[in-house]
Amino acid sequence: MSETFTLAPDGIPPSEIAQRTLHTGAKMPGIGLGTFGSDRFSHEEIAKAVREAIACGYRHIDCASVYGNETHIGEVLAEVLASGEVKREELWITSKVWNDKHSEVRASCEQSIADLQVGYLDLYLTHWPFPNFHPPGCDIDSRSPHAKPYIHENFMKTWRQMEELVDAGLTKHIGTSNMTVPKMKLVLRDARIQPACNEMELHPHFQQEELFKLCIDNSIAPIGFCPIGSPTRPDRDKTEDDTVDIEDPVVGEIAKRLGVHPAVVCVAWAVQRGQTPIPFSVFRNEFLSNLNSGRGKVLSDEDIQALSKVDKNNRLIKGHVFLWKDGQDWDALWDMNGEVTPA
Ligand SMILES: NC(=O)c1ccc[n+]([C@@H]2O[C@H](COP(=O)([O-])OP(=O)(O)OC[C@H]3O[C@@H](n4cnc5c(N)ncnc54)[C@H](OP(=O)(O)O)[C@@H]3O)[C@@H](O)[C@H]2O)c1
Repeated sequence: MSETFTLAPDGIPPSEIAQRTLHTGAKMPGIGLGTFGSDRFSHEEIAKAVREAIACGYRHIDCASVYGNETHIGEVLAEVLASGEVKREELWITSKVWNDKHSEVRASCEQSIADLQVGYLDLYLTHWPFPNFHPPGCDIDSRSPHAKPYIHENFMKTWRQMEELVDAGLTKHIGTSNMTVPKMKLVLRDARIQPACNEMELHPHFQQEELFKLCIDNSIAPIGFCPIGSPTRPDRDKTEDDTVDIEDPVVGEIAKRLGVHPAVVCVAWAVQRGQTPIPFSVFRNEFLSNLNSGRGKVLSDEDIQALSKVDKNNRLIKGHVFLWKDGQDWDALWDMNGEVTPA
């Protein structure tokens, strides 16, 4: 990766991609590139995809320390910025504090900034709202003996450290991820600096209408992860009841009519609904066609209406490994009764 970075002649002008205006007035590119390669792609392959994606017009990159590839992505970002073709302020770089660093938020943020070689972050997220962690790649039956439920006072201690990052200029915005309606209401009540964004699982088969609306009503921009329904996620993250968005007949019919892959319909739906999808792909044809769907009105009002009805409440990232009691069902993590699940 040492040749000089240049913009791709067939790339998409970033000015043509939807933008989200955040509560600070800042604009966030309305489609980003995911960088979680799971165990399918090497860190080098993902960094190469980031470079090519920026050359093709992506300006929003969704990173996280736990993905293990921030130093690789940082080398690429340094080359991009050194080329002068893209300025730092044109990029939107997100990172996330991993669960084992809830008491050391500043050090974790500084490490990500150093690894990514970006000087500051545009958005720093709490990856999960509890400090539970597990060995990378572990089975869904794996449990940490130190796992805890969501304890609001503890989360607010972490959030206070997040707020100090904004004060210190280390990140322009802070936000949450993997939240629920009751947890978000508590944070909205107690935060000094409100979350600018909430990264949440969003795809046609999992639309999370209530949390989505809570975010929009409170000027929190929803960022949608697994926007294509993560069709090639590892088997350990699949259960037999899971449905497949890109095999949905409504998605398929629209894709056929438009002559695109069903994945592109999922991304276009996300952009037009008002969330910011962060689809992952290392393949140029895929990430380019995903970005293209962030360009104006790809789907008709009838398509949007039809897609609003395919929701199957099918959560894919269930979070089993974060459960804190033996024999607990995964839905304890998601406050299904409308209040934070008691310890
Ligand atoms: N905050 C969180 O807790 C959290 C959780 C999960 C994910 N994320 C973020 O969200 C990102 C996206 O989620 P994800 O990677 O799980 O799922 P995803 O974006 O829904 O699905 C990615 C897969 O879809 C396929 N795909 C992508 N574009 C395509 C196209 N145009 N045509 C055909 N197939 C296409 C690719 O499969 P092939 O590789 O087989 O082509 C790719 O691996 C992650 O990378 C990560 O940055 C965040």
